[in-house]
Amino acid sequence: MLSIIKDNSPHIPLAHNVLNAYRNAIDHHGYFTVALSGGSLPTLLAKALQSITNDKIDYSKWHIFYADERCVLHSSPDSNHNACVESLYSVIPDMLDRAHIYPINESLVNAPEHAAEHYASTLQSTFSTLSNRNKEEKDIPQFDLILLGMGPDGHTCSLFPSHPLLTESKHIVASLTDSPKPPPSRITLTFPVLNHAKACTFVCTGLAKADIVKEILVDQSIIYPAGRVECQVIYWILDEQSSSKL
Ligand code: 6PG
Repeated sequence: MLSIIKDNSPHIPLAHNVLNAYRNAIDHHGYFTVALSGGSLPTLLAKALQSITNDKIDYSKWHIFYADERCVLHSSPDSNHNACVESLYSVIPDMLDRAHIYPINESLVNAPEHAAEHYASTLQSTFSTLSNRNKEEKDIPQFDLILLGMGPDGHTCSLFPSHPLLTESKHIVASLTDSPKPPPSRITLTFPVLNHAKACTFVCTGLAKADIVKEILVDQSIIYPAGRVECQVIYWILDEQSSSKL
């Protein structure tokens, strides 16, 4: 199911979207797993969550991962985790359990491949523990919600156009050292995880995205990584500018 939502205040539909995914997850299994992207997403999500009254969400039930991360220290201005610490976690009530936030292992940022392996094993073990499954089972983790952005080149997570990682099928988290957008070393969720999620939501604003948004949503182009996400439920939250060519 594909839903396109146009709103010049994208944090409003984003708040509904997150609340809905959270409620479904709590009703179904009692906790909420979400993966966050960088870019403008942390700030927009902060605005979205601030618009929801605290009694509607129990943040202690949230488990927060990153859809992609730069291989840098947590304190780096390039770190997606750092962006979330500064603009998002600071506005969420203290009920958010910091042990339920899963950043990249800082000691491995100079070894991206190991950092990706470590993140994959953190994902596997956390999802196994949460669902009371045997730790030896290596199912693909199923996120309740993955919040995605799209770059003006059509990338999402750190999955860039024409990059070999677009066909990665073995690893649930992969590393790259040749990101066309700096910094070059990163780790990213791969398509097997994105496509297995209960829902993926793109939040995409600005005129620079309008042509690609049209190519993906109208022409159904799969040239762009963002156009290759095919999980059960996909939302695109767009503003007037990014939806202007639809
Ligand atoms: C990155 C960013 C990136 C971002 C998109 C959309 O690691 O390079 O996280 O993937 O999500 O470029 O960014 P905006 O939401 O700021 O347009």
